[in-house]
Amino acid sequence: VTEQSRLSVHQVLHRRKDEPGALLPILHDIQDELGFIPSDLVADIAAALNLSRAEVHGVITYYHHFRSTAPGRHVVQICRAEACQAMGAEALFAHAQEHLACKAHHTTPDGSVTLEAAYCLGLCASSPSIAINGEVHARVTPIKFERLMAEARG
Ligand code: FES
Repeated sequence: VTEQSRLSVHQVLHRRKDEPGALLPILHDIQDELGFIPSDLVADIAAALNLSRAEVHGVITYYHHFRSTAPGRHVVQICRAEACQAMGAEALFAHAQEHLACKAHHTTPDGSVTLEAAYCLGLCASSPSIAINGEVHARVTPIKFERLMAEARG
């Protein structure tokens, strides 16, 4: 990790470590800032919170939201929660993996796209929904998915 990343993590730890239940907010803040939670810094997080490394690692791997490696230039999240599932989200997810040649929670070999699942993006009435770099798109068909990806990748 870079010195800058280490510094950012230490600032987050300093700001939050004494809050009750600090681990999750700390992990969210670190991921918001760096895009992922560097494994090299798990020991620092554990030490600041008086936890074992295994405990911190367990939480990071339990929540799909957290990444241990840097994401691609674009992060695509496909909603797999109930309303979207009822409108074909699983088929869309399968199509996305095939179209990008990339498995769920992985990044394409060229580093351009990270494909993730999400569990409700707040657009249930217009499902299935996806988010590209945090921007939500409704009623996404496989064809629309391909168009959105072409636009995003430029
Ligand atoms: Fe997919 Fe709510 S269930 S947006």
